[in-house]
Amino acid sequence: MKTVFTFAVGAVALAALAATTAAHAQSGPIKVGLMLPSSGTYAALGDMIEKGFKLHVQEQGGKLGGREIQYFTVDDESDPSKATDNANKLIKRDNVDVLIGTVHSGVAVGMAKAAKESGTLLIIPNAGADAITGPLCAKNIFRSSFSNWQPGYATGVVAAGKGYKTAMTITWNYGAGADTVKGFREAFEKGGGKVTKDLNLPFPNVEFQALLTQIAAEKPDVVYAFFAGGGAVKFVKDWAAAGLKNSVPLMGSGFLTDGTLAAQGAAAQGLITALHYGDEINTPRNNDFRNKFAVAYKANPDVYAMQGYDAAQMLAAGLNAVKGDMSKKDALYAAIAKAKIDSPRGPFTLSKAHNPVQDFYVREVRGEYNVVTGIAVKALADPARGCKM
Ligand code: PHB
Repeated sequence: MKTVFTFAVGAVALAALAATTAAHAQSGPIKVGLMLPSSGTYAALGDMIEKGFKLHVQEQGGKLGGREIQYFTVDDESDPSKATDNANKLIKRDNVDVLIGTVHSGVAVGMAKAAKESGTLLIIPNAGADAITGPLCAKNIFRSSFSNWQPGYATGVVAAGKGYKTAMTITWNYGAGADTVKGFREAFEKGGGKVTKDLNLPFPNVEFQALLTQIAAEKPDVVYAFFAGGGAVKFVKDWAAAGLKNSVPLMGSGFLTDGTLAAQGAAAQGLITALHYGDEINTPRNNDFRNKFAVAYKANPDVYAMQGYDAAQMLAAGLNAVKGDMSKKDALYAAIAKAKIDSPRGPFTLSKAHNPVQDFYVREVRGEYNVVTGIAVKALADPARGCKM
């Protein structure tokens, strides 16, 4: 009799404990795992994303959907070989509710697989790997940035529109480079041009000299370049130092000149790029964002800061709809999928594959600003080839 009594009391206690744990999980802080690079050529990009994300959370009083936000961080080093382990540190060790990351496409593909396996919500604040909103698309995976195809395609439209007939491309030899060159080629050749040669070097190498010599010898009408972060700084300076600035027009997706202008100086002046953001989008929304960012961090935001900020806005849209209850997964994902994000870039919606449908701007470097001079393509949607949701 005594044993039965003890068992009954034990069972009640266990049930009560389970109920408290469940209630706690939906009432304590939301655990946000930031998986970003804080070392290597993309370190500055990771820093800007984190600042942008935290700025939006701060604007909401430190809470989203009524719940405090608690951060966990991992330096992913932009190293795809460590992506699964790093993602699992956040998912399994820290037990995060949502993953935010990353910059590098190869690392993001590893994160997407880990998110899919564990059913963890993933919001990507930069990496454009086409596959993530293509064959790897999933109901718990979203992007606040772009697919690599998009800025490549937009730049191809601008280059063809200028009447250039031959182009060479130059980029790092990894997923993002290949994807974006594909987008450029598609638009440039549709517009009557021809890509004559693709040049590349391993990520994150910056020994450009031999490739610049080839470009100088072949003198195409235009060169399309994808580099970002520290590599973009070095490329633009080497291009000018090689004397190419006055002989071959250089264009790029806007990453070539975003967050980099102070370091690039005179070498970047006049460069024309296409991107879904620019420094001088003169709207109340963008001005407010830029002012608040400058006050908080004593720095100007760039495209990466904006994407981090919008990743937090997307998370907020989902959490507000379920009043912070992340166990209501279907409602959470549905709310993010149908949100209209009031972004500093201009409002955007998400495609069926969860990638922003957005305008691409033409920008020209003047001083330390990427000044918007026109629209390259309005409401550009990634083709989402291979996505079956
Ligand atoms: C990418 O790896 O997808 C990537 C990295 C840096 C950028 C853009 C795309 O600026």
